[in-house]
Amino acid sequence: MATKSLNVNGRRVSIAIDDPRMPLLYALRDNLGLRGPRFGCGLAQCGACTVHVDGNAVRSCVTPLSSIGAGQRVVTLEGLGTPQRPHPVQRAFIAEQAAQCGYCINGMIMESAAFLARNRRPSEAQIKQALANNLCRCGTHARIVRAVRRAAGAA
Ligand code: FES
Ligand code: FES
Repeated sequence: MATKSLNVNGRRVSIAIDDPRMPLLYALRDNLGLRGPRFGCGLAQCGACTVHVDGNAVRSCVTPLSSIGAGQRVVTLEGLGTPQRPHPVQRAFIAEQAAQCGYCINGMIMESAAFLARNRRPSEAQIKQALANNLCRCGTHARIVRAVRRAAGAA
């Protein structure tokens, strides 16, 4: 069995892997107990499993753990902010109460945070485009877009 060294939420961790195709999502949830990233479709279609790798939003359900370099920075919802100091996007989602069942919200927040880091003053159309491939079965889209606008200082 091989051991994989990773940087997750600023911590160096090691994970035993016996299958090189093991998805990053499984390592985060099952080995490290990080339940922010969710298993939705498992096929890169819904966005529920989104995490950041070196600041980019990545679908961890289809990202093999073996493809992540030891020097790359993996950040999950848990590492984005803290309960005492939430990330501005997390704060905005709370302020707008932008969740129903909450299943998609990890992906919505992680995708939005990566997007706003690149585009600090997006239009509403750009926000909708950035989140177009993140699915919400509850129909919370209007509040989610309001939250992202708030995080961008536009609401
Ligand atoms: S669970 Fe990864 S995109 Fe749906
Ligand atoms: S809030 Fe339920 S899936 Fe989005």
